[in-house]
Amino acid sequence: TSSVGFVGYRGMVGSVLMQRMLDEGDFAQLNPVFFSTSNAGGAAPSFAQGAEPLQDAYDIKTLAKLPIIVTAQGGDYTSKVHSELRKSGWDGLWIDAASTLRMNEDSVIVLDPVNRNVIDQSLVAGVKDFVGGNCTVSCMLMGLGGLFKNNLVEWSTSMTYQAASGGGARHMRELLTQFGDINSAVSAELADPASAILDIDRKVLEAQRGGLDASQFGVPLGGSLIPWIDADLGNGQSREEWKAGAETNKILQTSGDHHIIVDGLCVRIGAMRSHSQALTIKLKDDLTVSEIESLLDEDNEWAKVVPNEKEATMDRLTPVAASGTLDIPVGRIRKLEMGPKYISAFTVGDQLLWGAAEPLRRMLAIAQG
Ligand code: HSE
Repeated sequence: TSSVGFVGYRGMVGSVLMQRMLDEGDFAQLNPVFFSTSNAGGAAPSFAQGAEPLQDAYDIKTLAKLPIIVTAQGGDYTSKVHSELRKSGWDGLWIDAASTLRMNEDSVIVLDPVNRNVIDQSLVAGVKDFVGGNCTVSCMLMGLGGLFKNNLVEWSTSMTYQAASGGGARHMRELLTQFGDINSAVSAELADPASAILDIDRKVLEAQRGGLDASQFGVPLGGSLIPWIDADLGNGQSREEWKAGAETNKILQTSGDHHIIVDGLCVRIGAMRSHSQALTIKLKDDLTVSEIESLLDEDNEWAKVVPNEKEATMDRLTPVAASGTLDIPVGRIRKLEMGPKYISAFTVGDQLLWGAAEPLRRMLAIAQG
């Protein structure tokens, strides 16, 4: 059993990762060494019986003893520690949830149900940095892999409906606090069936425009939405929108002539932890809807085609239905009026599972052989 260092195991992504590893019995295959940025010397987590006390996550010498390090500590940590560790001569495998190293030439974005061939070739070629993809990109490729992998996509838009969890744990709390405060502002009126809905609406708006704590998101999300995610790149595109095209092509290794155009708008909505996206896809061939559905369903065991019918869609194609599961439902598949090669699709995925923790967990298993 090899030793594996874990950094950031207590954060939101780290906690989901630990839970998935416990569920799958992964700890039986390895000897975990837990690191902390704030509590070195403290007790190892209770789920890891017999692990040594917490090590200092900034101690390069201690980190360098490990053949594999998995971090969900975040981009600032990666920026601070990764290059120093490499400079010290460490040539172990670095498996990372943060975006910092994602587009480096010598890193691979891991999503093995989609790019296992790339991962395997890179391991043989001596690549040492393996990074989880952006959550929307990973969830989209898990759902739509059957079209992308078979080289059937000429171009695609991705119009997203991204959950609060993408911002972090504090963002999720802020959303819920906003919902509660909005409710409190009109609870008397709600209790009275005879109260006027336009009075309620006016009071809600007053609450949203004044006084709601929006320190994480910047503006209220509860009862509203925010059509901008991540940095402004200055060309009209947000960084989140840029990632869709850049990372999709890196994951699929479709650079140069094979580049697939993927672009669209990224929008934050008041869901908790599942990201959704509406896609318009221009196919290279005029496939029937049932051919498309079979390709998607058969691509991997997690993509689940939802028939394009009202009841099935409402039951199975929502953040409430997908959250906490590894399923990636994909539905609303139909030919659009633009022509026979234009289809719509809608997909939902748990941002913390396939969007963050699961590709790392699986990469760790692959790395251990
Ligand atoms: N950038 C994503 C979001 C989360 O804000 O929803 C991380 O991939």
